[in-house]
Amino acid sequence: MNILVLSGSPRKGGNTEMLVDAFVESASQKHNVEVVSVRDYKINPCIGCNACFQHSDHSCCQKDDMSLVYDKMSKADMLLIASPVYFYGLSAQLKAVIDRCHNPLRDTFHISKMGIMLVGAATLPELFDSILVQYRLCLNFFNVEDVGQVLVRGVKDKGDIKKSDALKKASDLGLNI
Ligand SMILES: Cc1cc2nc3c(=O)[nH]c(=O)nc-3n(C[C@H](O)[C@H](O)[C@H](O)COP(=O)(O)O)c2cc1C
Repeated sequence: MNILVLSGSPRKGGNTEMLVDAFVESASQKHNVEVVSVRDYKINPCIGCNACFQHSDHSCCQKDDMSLVYDKMSKADMLLIASPVYFYGLSAQLKAVIDRCHNPLRDTFHISKMGIMLVGAATLPELFDSILVQYRLCLNFFNVEDVGQVLVRGVKDKGDIKKSDALKKASDLGLNI
């Protein structure tokens, strides 16, 4: 498979990135894996003009790096999203990428599998609930299969994730797809 990873933390070398690295190392043994670290791309939020629905080539009126991501998505069989929890949601940088998929171009994609990896500082059981509701609704809407989730509580500072078994879980997810 071609696996596209959308890595959503603006913090370089942080917990999300370490999780992504563990996944990529194992998944790369059997699959082509590409990582888009969203902080490296200039991607504006969707402005809701719906011009992409009028344009014959479905081009977006915003000329930014999202065109590069559309191209990568068009080649992907699987999408993995990874994000820190920001106020019980995804990072704004990653949410901007997701919202820009409100574009008919997505109907030309052949992504049939998805996974999700999330990290947050709190330890409360419901930490990921709001994100996982959105995730499941999107899976249903697009008829996409969930291949697995790595959900990591209690990691705040850079490197905290090494104190948990999460890197092993991310590696196992990469091995088992
Ligand atoms: C703007 C902001 C909002 C955050 N909101 C939450 C939150 O709602 N719940 C939580 O448990 N942690 C929250 N955190 C903590 C991060 O999720 C946590 O530090 C995480 O490990 C950061 O991941 P990273 O190292 O990949 O950047 C927040 C951090 C920031 C910077």
